[in-house]
Amino acid sequence: MSFDENQAGSSDWTPSAWRARPAMHIPDDYPDTAALTAIERELSSYPPLVFAGEVRKLRERLAAVEKGEAFLLQGGDCAESFKEFHPNNIRDTFRVLLQMAVALTFGAGAPVVKVGRIAGQFAKPRSAPTETRDDVTLPSYRGDNINGMEFEPAARTPDPQRLLKAYGQAAATLNLIRAFARGGYASLSNVHRWNLEFVAGDRQSDRYRALADKISEALTFMRACGVTGEKVPSLNETDFFTSHEALLLGYEEAMTRVDSTTGGWYDTSAHMIWIGDRTRQPDGAHVEFCRGVENPIGVKCGPSLNPDELLRLLDILNPGNARGRIVLIARFGANNVADGLPPLVRAVTRAGRNVVWSSDPMHGNTIKTGVGVKTRRFDSILAEVDAFFSVCRSEGAHPGGVHFEMTGQNVTECLGGSDEVTERDLNSRYHTHCDPRLNASQALELAFILADRLKIVASDG
Ligand code: TRP
Ligand code: MN
Repeated sequence: MSFDENQAGSSDWTPSAWRARPAMHIPDDYPDTAALTAIERELSSYPPLVFAGEVRKLRERLAAVEKGEAFLLQGGDCAESFKEFHPNNIRDTFRVLLQMAVALTFGAGAPVVKVGRIAGQFAKPRSAPTETRDDVTLPSYRGDNINGMEFEPAARTPDPQRLLKAYGQAAATLNLIRAFARGGYASLSNVHRWNLEFVAGDRQSDRYRALADKISEALTFMRACGVTGEKVPSLNETDFFTSHEALLLGYEEAMTRVDSTTGGWYDTSAHMIWIGDRTRQPDGAHVEFCRGVENPIGVKCGPSLNPDELLRLLDILNPGNARGRIVLIARFGANNVADGLPPLVRAVTRAGRNVVWSSDPMHGNTIKTGVGVKTRRFDSILAEVDAFFSVCRSEGAHPGGVHFEMTGQNVTECLGGSDEVTERDLNSRYHTHCDPRLNASQALELAFILADRLKIVASDG
């Protein structure tokens, strides 16, 4: 990887070409655009957060998912925030993701590719550019790397200094994650121990306990056979990748560098980036930016996406039909997935396009309670994943992964689960800066239920 700026890549593409395209959901109201440019320039000289070789490794792992040989688990906050930035929060989210991964690895009988929505997931597309309270109208909150959530003019004014703070937070978060992933904390025996503690809780069902017991047996058997952490280092560590929505393209551009080994461009802000359902216009800025970098690209696919447009996006983003490049993240809502998803899967399969199919069961299932609080029902989330699995199977595609908004904290933002969070509980620990997240217990429960479902299929095949 080259650390020089502005080295020419191999294609007809440049990191700034997106600036000539219509750009949705990118603020144009920075009071001082010269200051913004200066900060983007400064960022472009900062160290990359991830390395091209790691990105290539993730692409290889995703290529295995495409072939049905691995499963993708992607999850984390809807939006990270400066306020919730704390080592304990990072640790807890990381820990729950690994706990989910162990259950899913066992259930799928296949490796799980672990990708956090973390270390850079700040910017948010908003349904309206402004927000009105009483008779005051201010710009909407767009994420902590752009403006502040407080409803007052100063906070809501975009401030380019926030980009530097977001970079620093992402770097520190990633540093801690790397230490956890490699330093022993993420060892299989540790993570399994946390899972045993989870299933021992008196509200957890016997089915989860039965699954955990089977994992215990498998681990004991392995140990008896001499498969231990000393002899097999992969039991003591794991690969953990980062991802976020590539929304704020000035930041992504500043983090994009040429890899000297291959001459390709890499967005070094994260291993994987994705394009949101609201910014996936084929001629738009976000697609233009993403087509030029070598990172795996997620594309959120919602009810408004038609099969022809999806094929066009694949032509633009992956003209060579490379493996491990595209993750299609379906987000239809539990009631729409059975009708909406099959035409997309059919078109992609018929065209012979290599993609990972993943399910985001969060964004199509957001509802408002009577008092106007955004929430999601555990049962709808599970129902969407179930429907996604059955659509993929009946269309002959591999259901490759899941994408959750979740946290390691004990929040009350989504309804249901075995702790039975109710509408009345929502105001007790509702901390999200954006959409409602599964709490640690709800996220783990989902993983245990999915592990059981995958298990049935794994033994079928
Ligand atoms: N290295 C293996 C993997 O990542 C096994 C492993 C070690 C693991 N620690 C883990 C799996 C934590 C899941 C979670 O798959
Ligand atoms: Mn969200």
